[in-house]
Amino acid sequence: MSSPSPWNAETAAVLIAEHRALPGALLPMLHALQEEFGYIDQAAVPLLADALNLSRAEIHGVITFYHDFRREPRGRHVVKLCRAESCQSMGADRLVAHAKGRLGVDFHHTTKDGRFTLEQVFCLGNCALSPAVMIDGELHGRVDEAGFDRLLQETGKSK
Ligand code: FES
Repeated sequence: MSSPSPWNAETAAVLIAEHRALPGALLPMLHALQEEFGYIDQAAVPLLADALNLSRAEIHGVITFYHDFRREPRGRHVVKLCRAESCQSMGADRLVAHAKGRLGVDFHHTTKDGRFTLEQVFCLGNCALSPAVMIDGELHGRVDEAGFDRLLQETGKSK
């Protein structure tokens, strides 16, 4: 997983300008900003509002509506828990509660030490091995609470 750049208003302005001509430009702009910085900085909201002639509240509404957009810097590792049907039936709720407690954060948030960001997804295409978890793009199946702790420990060692 490539490291995001630190927030920079000039780069953000360039990215916004590059996507201005696209139909429904806001979503491509938001994706481009998140790709570059790892999240949507609050300071991007007025830039987007000016570029699209929308209110800041409208921009904010779109960012909060789509759970894909992070509103704070991403941690060094991204942990995604599947919450779709197959994983639910195999104990995903328990795993979610465990993961939140273990990391001390809710979905879409990053641990205080900046190591882990916790996210939810709805099907990782690994239903036969539910419950499924993805860490930094790597898929893991049949993850129980103890398995989750092991994965976290192994991941934490890498950085
Ligand atoms: S439902 Fe979780 S991987 Fe498909």
